Amino acid sequence: MKTSKEGRYSRIKEQLQDLFSRTSGMLPRMATLNALLYHKMDGFFWVGFYLLNEGKLLVGPYQGSLACMELPSKKGVCWTGITTGNTVIVPDVHNFPGHIACDSRSKSEIVVPVYDRNNKVIGVLDIDSREPDHFDQVDAENLGQIVALIFKG
Ligand code: SME
Repeated sequence: MKTSKEGRYSRIKEQLQDLFSRTSGMLPRMATLNALLYHKMDGFFWVGFYLLNEGKLLVGPYQGSLACMELPSKKGVCWTGITTGNTVIVPDVHNFPGHIACDSRSKSEIVVPVYDRNNKVIGVLDIDSREPDHFDQVDAENLGQIVALIFKG
């Protein structure tokens, strides 16, 4: 049986597929995805993108409190997602060496790399929660499928 979280992700994926049929633009798709996740998922305190730009990691579209605009090179959770190319789940941000705190209320975090149509990493989706240990493999799997929709169709 599906958990309520899985059910919610299923509905969000269906809704995004429908919404994304209206435009293939990357930024409108990212902005729309943020709005849906931020407002529909429990405990998502900050949802947004950090995008590579001339070797820097700069904030993109987001929902939530004011964020760091540029992340110091090669440290923190977002850069780890970029350099490893893998999803990073951080149950307790205080135990992650080099973690960058843009808002001290964030306690746990998940970062999902975003691949473009040429399978190149262009940035990450970053989600923070005020609850410790908020993210698990269900989030990792579904958020991976959700970011893959950005460059589909
Ligand atoms: N914590 C992130 C920085 C971005 S904020 O969470 C919005 C990091 O360590 O890379």
